[in-house]
Amino acid sequence: MNTRSVNTLSIDAGRLLGRLQELGRIGHDEQGRLARVAATDADKAGRDRLVGWMKEAGLEIAVDRIGNVFGIWAGAADPRPVMVGSHIDTVVNAGIYDGTYGVLAGLAVIETLQAAGFVPRRPIVVVAFTNEEGARYAPDMMGSLVYAGGLGVEEALATVGTDGSVLGEELARIGYAGDREPGFLKPHAYVELHIEQGPILEQVGLPIGAVETLQGISWQRVTIKGTANHAGTTPMSMRRDAGQAAARVMTFLRDHVTRSHAQSVATVGCLRLEPDVINVIPSRATFTVDLRDPDESRLRDAEAALARFLDELSVEEQVRISVERLARFEPVLFDEALVERIEEAASRRGLPSRRMTSGAGHDAQMIARIAPSAMIFVPSHQGISHNPREHTEPQDLAAGADVLLDVVMQLCAAP
Ligand code: GLV
Ligand code: MN
Ligand code: MN
Repeated sequence: MNTRSVNTLSIDAGRLLGRLQELGRIGHDEQGRLARVAATDADKAGRDRLVGWMKEAGLEIAVDRIGNVFGIWAGAADPRPVMVGSHIDTVVNAGIYDGTYGVLAGLAVIETLQAAGFVPRRPIVVVAFTNEEGARYAPDMMGSLVYAGGLGVEEALATVGTDGSVLGEELARIGYAGDREPGFLKPHAYVELHIEQGPILEQVGLPIGAVETLQGISWQRVTIKGTANHAGTTPMSMRRDAGQAAARVMTFLRDHVTRSHAQSVATVGCLRLEPDVINVIPSRATFTVDLRDPDESRLRDAEAALARFLDELSVEEQVRISVERLARFEPVLFDEALVERIEEAASRRGLPSRRMTSGAGHDAQMIARIAPSAMIFVPSHQGISHNPREHTEPQDLAAGADVLLDVVMQLCAAP
């Protein structure tokens, strides 16, 4: 196939949008929220649907020991595949595009090339990585981290979830504990298409982001132990109030990152007080801290500042504090040549783009350890994500998938 006919190809946008909607209807909890949380029955239902589509496309299905699902379009001379994909697990009360878009667009790319009679020099593989979100099992990006050799498979399978479940047992229960060794395919390159999940592209009015860096991520769980006592009879000066101490940490974090840099962010996303009774001073507070920064030294400073603050706080509030690390990933620089390919592919389609840093974590940051990797972003309406109001315009979804198509074609054609 020559370059001119290649450039006229486009993915079937109607089918991609239809599948996004269909997968978005799979995996709701009792409250009607989309919650295709890793290795649950909902995740199984989503995986089964995806595997069905992969089989319809004639792909060879492989599942590795951490449950990553691969649809392989094989038969080419060079054994190192061009890999595309993302994840289909979700947070609780999720939108329908996060992760799913990259997987379904990857499948659409393969189907488009098959229909066009394109003969790739190397296999093309679409992957759905296990537990990207980390909503049930930490760390996040677990399937791709294991795949890239950053975490042992046995250790990952032994992870105990927020609900007390064990990941390995849950993967076996839902039928996705595969037998391939993680890392069994060494990609020639990995390209992940994803919604931006932030406001930048919409604000600047651009349809495509060429993602060149991804910020560092630090996850910790903090436990504060005080003393339960009567809310009416205990003078303020005599309290050992774990809830009050937790509130001070939250305020400290916001103040610290706000003073630090415009790109530094801190979030306390989980908070549990015990005994959780209106007239009892909390004896225990457990909460998570999510710190992110594109700059590693600033991220380290934030971690150190939090540690110092917790030391002072334990004295001032007379509480005991312990900290557990859940995840720690340094900022990632994506492959320059691949980022340029994305920019050029967008430009050839008449789609203006800009380079970006990803604020969210992505599987591409793990696969970057073993293969040249980069990401394509499309706009997220009002920057909303991890929320059912997540939305990207259909023409932006189609445009991103077409850029992915062009990049994959080039990667499969080049020696
Ligand atoms: C994954 O969605 C993350 O960035 O937390
Ligand atoms: Mn995602
Ligand atoms: Mn997400």
